[in-house]
Amino acid sequence: MTIPAPSKLAYVPFVSVDNMMKLVHHIGVEQVLADLARYIQDDFARWELFDKTPRVASHSTEGVIELMPTSDGQVYGFKYVNGHPANMKKGLQTVTAFGLLADVASGYPVMLSEMTILTALRTAATSAMVAKHLAPKGAKTLAMIGNGAQSEFQALAMKTVCGIENLRLYDIDPAATAKCKANLADSGLNIAACNSPEAAIEGAQITTTCTADKQYATILTDNMVGAGVHINAIGGDCPGKTELHRDILLRSDIFVEFPEQTRIEGEIQQLDADHPVTEIWQVINGIAKGRTSDAQITLFDGVGFAIEDFSALRYVHDQLQDGNFYQDLDMVADPDDPRDLFGMLQRAKR
Ligand SMILES: NC(=O)c1ccc[n+]([C@@H]2O[C@H](COP(=O)([O-])OP(=O)(O)OC[C@H]3O[C@@H](n4cnc5c(N)ncnc54)[C@H](O)[C@@H]3O)[C@@H](O)[C@H]2O)c1
Repeated sequence: MTIPAPSKLAYVPFVSVDNMMKLVHHIGVEQVLADLARYIQDDFARWELFDKTPRVASHSTEGVIELMPTSDGQVYGFKYVNGHPANMKKGLQTVTAFGLLADVASGYPVMLSEMTILTALRTAATSAMVAKHLAPKGAKTLAMIGNGAQSEFQALAMKTVCGIENLRLYDIDPAATAKCKANLADSGLNIAACNSPEAAIEGAQITTTCTADKQYATILTDNMVGAGVHINAIGGDCPGKTELHRDILLRSDIFVEFPEQTRIEGEIQQLDADHPVTEIWQVINGIAKGRTSDAQITLFDGVGFAIEDFSALRYVHDQLQDGNFYQDLDMVADPDDPRDLFGMLQRAKR
């Protein structure tokens, strides 16, 4: 007996790690970061259309596994992502991810994708898109504290979206700094490896903290932060996992993605539940003010929100043409007679 071939709708385009890397090189890393910043900003501009919920987190002593869903009413997306700070010492990634887009009208998946690389790209694009709105005008120097997996992406996005020219690196592990510096040797950035966080933030208009620890850490203390800078704090993204001393928060104007999630996961978990924060989509849409003075400290308390992943998946989906950069996965059981699922199973018996 011949087994019927799966219907066309059974096949879902799958973007593997290999194809994601080919796609990024085909377009160019910096171009992808700039494109993603635009896609994310466009989706933040239509914020009110989206379903929004804090991500669903499953915590363990080693880390966290999270699901991040959202929908704009036409398309649904979700990401699976983990955060395991101790992984790196075991030779594993701290963060791995994959995600899916689906058609809201039918509920059928339309794309499955790796998202470990895509998360690093979208996190960097988000940081830079936000910094474009908040950082001091003409900012040229970025301090990057934490030189792990995310760091090069962060630096390149700040270069291409915000015009950063100088990069000052610090990590408690000098091997991480050496890796980051070597990876960015051809980037056109002037790079300085620093031996303390104080040295790294010297003269920087933007400081990114991107470290991984499963507990409250103090990467920046109050006396280290001068007036008129922008802080992009993205490494603290779980209950009990923060990077900044509370006093810095009290001196800063704080900008967030989705307050309901950030109050659980972000730096502001250290503050009262009603401490004022500004939602970045409101700055993008001109409803709220961003930077209002040269002396102001602006702080992006970035934890990563589902809409950023939705935008990133939407971007990748828009690049898939002519069978390039994906494989078809036989993923949806789709019998010709929708009520004959069992018959389809039976006909497949060998
Ligand atoms: N906000 C977001 O959207 C988002 C997205 C992805 C990852 N993250 C978070 O970003 C963090 C970094 O992720 P990664 O994949 O680069 O992790 P990683 O493990 O590859 O790198 C972390 C680096 O931080 C360094 N570090 C740890 N403590 C430090 C300290 N006190 N001072 C200076 N450096 C220190 C480590 O040596 C390591 O090189 C993680 O906490 C992750 O959860 C946030």
